[in-house]
Amino acid sequence: MGNHTILGTDPPAAPRPAEIRHTRLTHPSSPKNQLHNDMTEQERIMQLREALHHHNHLYYVENQPAISDYEFDQMMRELQDLEAAHPEMADPNSPAVRVGSDLLSDFKQIPHKYPMLSLGNTYNREEVADFYRRVSEGLGGADFDICCELKFDGLSISLTYENGRLVRGVTRGDGVTGDDVTANIRTIRTIPLVLPDRQDIPQSFEIRGEVLMPWKSFETLNEERERKEEPLFANPRNAAAGTLKNRNSQVAAHRKLDAYLYYLLGEDIPRESHYQNLQTARSWGFKVSEATKLAHSLEEVYAFIDYWDTQRRNLPVATDGIVLKVDNIRQQEILGYTAKSPRWAIAYKFQAERACTPLREVTFQVGRTGIVTPVANMEPVLLSGTIVRRASLHNEDILRKFQLRPGDRVYVEKAGEIIPQIVGVDPHRAAPETTPPIGFPLTCPECGATLVRYEGEAARYCPNSSACRPQLKGRIEHFISRDAMNIECLGPETVDDYFERGLLPHQDAADLYLLTESDLLGTNGCREKMAQKIVESISRSRNVSFDRVLYALGIRFVGKVAAKSLAKHFRSMERLSHANHDELMCVEGIGTTIADSVVDFFSEPRHLDFVARLAAAGVQMSMPDEVKLSDKLSGKSIVISGTFHHHSREEYKALIEKHGGKNVSSISGKTSFVLAGEGMGPAKLAKAQSLGIPILQENDFLALLNE
Ligand code: IVH
Repeated sequence: MGNHTILGTDPPAAPRPAEIRHTRLTHPSSPKNQLHNDMTEQERIMQLREALHHHNHLYYVENQPAISDYEFDQMMRELQDLEAAHPEMADPNSPAVRVGSDLLSDFKQIPHKYPMLSLGNTYNREEVADFYRRVSEGLGGADFDICCELKFDGLSISLTYENGRLVRGVTRGDGVTGDDVTANIRTIRTIPLVLPDRQDIPQSFEIRGEVLMPWKSFETLNEERERKEEPLFANPRNAAAGTLKNRNSQVAAHRKLDAYLYYLLGEDIPRESHYQNLQTARSWGFKVSEATKLAHSLEEVYAFIDYWDTQRRNLPVATDGIVLKVDNIRQQEILGYTAKSPRWAIAYKFQAERACTPLREVTFQVGRTGIVTPVANMEPVLLSGTIVRRASLHNEDILRKFQLRPGDRVYVEKAGEIIPQIVGVDPHRAAPETTPPIGFPLTCPECGATLVRYEGEAARYCPNSSACRPQLKGRIEHFISRDAMNIECLGPETVDDYFERGLLPHQDAADLYLLTESDLLGTNGCREKMAQKIVESISRSRNVSFDRVLYALGIRFVGKVAAKSLAKHFRSMERLSHANHDELMCVEGIGTTIADSVVDFFSEPRHLDFVARLAAAGVQMSMPDEVKLSDKLSGKSIVISGTFHHHSREEYKALIEKHGGKNVSSISGKTSFVLAGEGMGPAKLAKAQSLGIPILQENDFLALLNE
């Protein structure tokens, strides 16, 4: 990020749909989506279906959309119109009659008691007026109110409460069946787990809403990922989806999701006013948006839309439109449903902000791990109040998809209004089709080494990790970063400067510890006070714990979590550096990829030299011995299985060690006992029983320690 400037002027008007209609949508693995004049409408239907199936999959299943929602909706509308004109082409499997699926096989699938429908979309006032008219006609001209709400851009979720307690949280899935993500849902602090003891709360009900990642959490998460060179999430919606479907609920807890609820349903809920129900739900402890308003006329609906079209920028979460719902629930019942959506509600989508600007060139950036990323450099253009000059093209496949030539006019959209993305190219090309498009270089733009592409990966790497300058600098930047050595007074620019001045003779981070105040005087106008602060802040990092030192080394695939487990298991650099593949594989959470990478790292003399110089500088090379609480478990080998109420598995493991016990991963004749939580695997249970190994429940175990 950091490639845009904040300006105080208004952005130019977004291009009208007609201008961007034929934005190229081709993708190497997707069907072409250009409307050829010689194509029949029937052929176009087939083409659109194929493209929509593909993008549907990218969006719902992989959470990796390749086109904007607007483009998707445009294609869907075109398909719906063509299908209406060609009833002979009807197909029950057409993407136009399906609601999309985000089913993941790893979560238990739960059928929805009431189907989770989607909403019809509108894009302008006329379409909103059409909806209003249809409702009025459907109600035989009776009066009605419209409940106006924000359309939150996250993941829809259905929560079931029984006897005042949350029993289940299920994703929309295909609308009929969803994934049971209760464990992750429980980590969302704004979702009540237990409701107050009140007469008006039905014994059983569902409440639906949207799980979101607030902008703030999203930015923090992406900054963290940028540092670790992990792919960034394009917008908070994808980040929320990735989080909710993570099998490890600790990830969800860490990433701080939020949820707004907007629909109460069940047999025993009040049937008068939807708006009133939301207020009631709020009084039960649910987070219901304050931006919910009853409109008594079309004018009041427009006023709501106009207000939020600009004000939504000040909200802590992403919104992509407005939802309009007929307020009276009996009237909702009269209006009913189509196969896909209610007739009593509609979404109004805000225009995604986009701009069109000529491409200057594509440059290729080399990161710390050697990944080469194509970056589009464009004529500066205003987009949502910031100037955009650069947009990542991510990888070779995406670069190829656009077939770019210098001077081509590209459409840039701010995905989630943060990271600019190229979403298409003006079909009136700057250069003739015979000019070859910009291709991916075969050699590293920085050091000239031949690039490599590993099987199954979209990225190309520069393999010259020992001498390619941006890789060397990137590793030093990683070393000083907050989660690593946290050397606060240094940043990427200072590192770059020291590097270029030759202040770091070995071209690695160990040289930082040899810097003196006089070395720094004069660099970047640095004066005595500053020089002193920098040297002190480098020096302070000598106290950073061993697990973070390990992370700071920048061993490929060794993130913070892996570094922690390795540090805990081996306890010193000495032991870790001598560990072989099999020994590494015994560590919880370490698989072949990490094990290979660690072995590779310590087999290189220059890495050993780097580590030795860090040790000589006084950086922590081991974990202090853990505090012993007792010897109660001394000599015992304990297997942990299942999930627990009072402590996490990790906490129990630590507890076992602190009481002198040993954690082992599989049951054998030598196992002293099994600490069993809920859902212990049947195979484990059978094995323990056949070997006559005692099984302790959580409370028995805690009692044993407290004796
Ligand atoms: S009501 C039967 N209200 O938009 C009506 N949906 O395109 C159910 N959404 O799947 C939906 N904010 O994920 C409703 N205030 C809101 C909403 C909202 C966001 C999402 C929801 C739904 C999609 C429909």
